[in-house]
Amino acid sequence: SGRRPLIAGNWKMNGLRSSVPVVEAIRDGLSPELTSRIDVLVCPPSTLISSCVAAVYGSAIAIGGQNLHAKASGAFTGSISAEMLADLGATYVIVGHSERRAYHHETDDGVHAKALGARRAGLCGIICVGETQEEREEGRTLDIVRAQLAIGVPKGAKASDTVIAYEPVWAIGTGLTPTPADIAEVHASLREMLGQLIGAEAAKVRILYGGSVKPGNARELMAVENVDGALVGGASLVASDFLGIAAAY
Ligand code: G3H
Repeated sequence: SGRRPLIAGNWKMNGLRSSVPVVEAIRDGLSPELTSRIDVLVCPPSTLISSCVAAVYGSAIAIGGQNLHAKASGAFTGSISAEMLADLGATYVIVGHSERRAYHHETDDGVHAKALGARRAGLCGIICVGETQEEREEGRTLDIVRAQLAIGVPKGAKASDTVIAYEPVWAIGTGLTPTPADIAEVHASLREMLGQLIGAEAAKVRILYGGSVKPGNARELMAVENVDGALVGGASLVASDFLGIAAAY
C-alpha cells in the first residue's frame, strides 16, 4: 500500500507516575528493524505526557494526547489545547474517541473543530469513528461511519496531519471483534469516502482498526486490506502485550 503502519496505544484514564516504566519497556522491546518499518505511538493521560516524552527521547516512539480543546487558549477551565500538547513534545492527538462522544457529548462538528485545532498546532489528529451495537444490528454501520468521517475530517486533510481509526463501539474493551471481512468492508468504504473528501491524498492516509486488539488476534486483523495499524486500549497498558501486537508487522 505504501502506507507506513502505525501501532498506537491509548492508555485512557489509566496510569500514575509509576507507569512510566511501561513506556520504557516498550521502548526497550522494539527492535530497530521493526521501527524501520512501522510507527509506534503511546497516548498516556495528559499528566504523564512530559515524563513519557522524556522516557522515549531519542527512540522511535511518539507520544500523543487523548483529547484536546479546539481553541488555542482562553477561559476554558480544565481544558488542554493542541498547542499545550505540542509544547510538551506530543506529536499526535486522538480526536473524537467513542468514550469522548458518549460521556462528553462530543459531536461530529466538535470533532471537526478539534481536528482543525490539532492541525493548527502541527499535531497529527487520529479521528475516531465507529458504530454502536444497535446501529450495526440495524444495518447502518456504513452510513454512520461515513457520516462521521464526512463531517469530522477537515478540508485539505493530509496523510501527515490525519489518521483515521475505525473503532466499533461494541468491540471496545469487550473482547469482541468484527470478522476480517466486516472490517475490510468498513475500511474500504472509509477509504472511498476519504477519496470523495480529499481526493488522491486518501490513498496515503492511514486507517487504523481499534477494539479488542490483542497479541493473539493482531496478525489476522492487521492483515486485512486497508488496515494500516491498530489503536490499542487495554493491551497497551502491558508492555509485552503491546509489543506482541507490534510484532504482527
Ligand atoms: O482507543 C482504544 C480503543 O478504545 C480500544 O480499546 O483495545 O481496550 O478494546 P480496547
